[in-house]
Amino acid sequence: MDFATVVRERRSIRKFKNQDIPDENILELINLAAHAPSSGNYQMWHFLVIKNQEIKEKMSQLVADKVDELVRRVNAQPDRDPKRAVAWFTRAPVVIAVSTEKYRTTIDNLLFHAGYSELEVDSLRCRPDLQSIGAVIQTLLLAAHFKGYGGCWLTGPMVARPALEELLGIKPPRSLAAIVALGWPDQVPPTKTIRPLEEIAAFIR
Ligand SMILES: Cc1cc2nc3c(=O)[nH]c(=O)nc-3n(C[C@H](O)[C@H](O)[C@H](O)COP(=O)(O)O)c2cc1C
Repeated sequence: MDFATVVRERRSIRKFKNQDIPDENILELINLAAHAPSSGNYQMWHFLVIKNQEIKEKMSQLVADKVDELVRRVNAQPDRDPKRAVAWFTRAPVVIAVSTEKYRTTIDNLLFHAGYSELEVDSLRCRPDLQSIGAVIQTLLLAAHFKGYGGCWLTGPMVARPALEELLGIKPPRSLAAIVALGWPDQVPPTKTIRPLEEIAAFIR
């Protein structure tokens, strides 16, 4: 498969065959993904590979509980069950919790010394730690597709991030950024159209 095909054909997979991925193959994917660019080359990512069904179900339950709490709190009657979009990942044979750690550059420290708050620094600097996590997850998903696996990037479950971090033992300064569901694909997603180039690209000459 050439590079353009890998990029074009990668799709989010949410239905998986009931078949494990050997640990060494998962590590191979992570090792490929770890070539992604990162802010200051800090490589601040960590991958916690969860194969244990009980833990996956506990994670999903925490997310579902949080969504239920929010629905009750706003007295909402959503037309679509919000849990369907965020708590389905238990069906994946492999769930990878990707965590990050904030990386402070010289510029960040300059801003802190100048009296900027953490919130202001985050807003100005556009969270390079999270952008780096985005790069590594996309590289992981491309590598997975290249090897014949299917995956899906999920941030919806982060609605229950503190509870998930406690369950998974992710402690400060690390924080959970996303989870990735991985397995052998058992679906062909419908074709996706991408936005035309004239809408998404411009030049300043
Ligand atoms: C940052 C990010 C967060 C996402 N979170 C979720 C999620 O919580 N649940 C889910 O089912 N899909 C999630 N997705 C997958 C998107 O829905 C999917 O990428 C998008 O619909 C485009 O489809 P494609 O990946 O097949 O090209 C997420 C994707 C990204 C990049």
